[in-house]
Amino acid sequence: MNKPLPDLNDRNDIIRLVDGFYERIRRDEKLGPVFEEIAQVDWETHLPKMYDFWDTVMFRSGTFRGDPIAAHKKLGPLTDMSQATFDHRLDLFRATVNELFAGEKAEHIVRCAEDMANVLYSKVNNVPQPRFDPANLTDEQRSRYEAYKKGNSG
Ligand code: HEM
Repeated sequence: MNKPLPDLNDRNDIIRLVDGFYERIRRDEKLGPVFEEIAQVDWETHLPKMYDFWDTVMFRSGTFRGDPIAAHKKLGPLTDMSQATFDHRLDLFRATVNELFAGEKAEHIVRCAEDMANVLYSKVNNVPQPRFDPANLTDEQRSRYEAYKKGNSG
């Protein structure tokens, strides 16, 4: 029997996950060139930024400083930011998580990645969030959402 995988428990685990994910990204024939050629990412800056991003999302480290919506909007005119590209990126992320970890936090980080992909896709492409369905809201959430749409979110 294989040893059971550990859950994702701390920043060191985030570092292993992010490093493994970007190894896959760099080898990927669709996404590799987006980072290497289009954005010409400086990995020594990008990787620690992503450690901080996920450490903040998962463990509230508060260390992330950035503007993901602006960063991805910039990419919109330069490369294919379709649903298929987001789904492909999510597949690589899920595969990396499942290779290294198993448990509640491992499942949670995948859900966070899915939510973030949904938000970024809609901002980059200027469309409503494809997986947001107002029919699933509670009455209280629906009235807040109506108020927000009228520009009265206070
Ligand atoms: C197919 C979809 C995506 C592509 C091609 C992509 C590509 C990139 C690239 C090239 C950068 C570097 C931008 C730069 O430094 O100029 C970047 C930054 C970043 N990406 Fe993505 N990304 C995608 C989706 C996502 C998703 C779903 C997440 C979150 C779960 C995410 C999180 C981030 C964060 C946090 C940064 C740093 C932003 C900043 O500098 O403030 N990306 N992405």
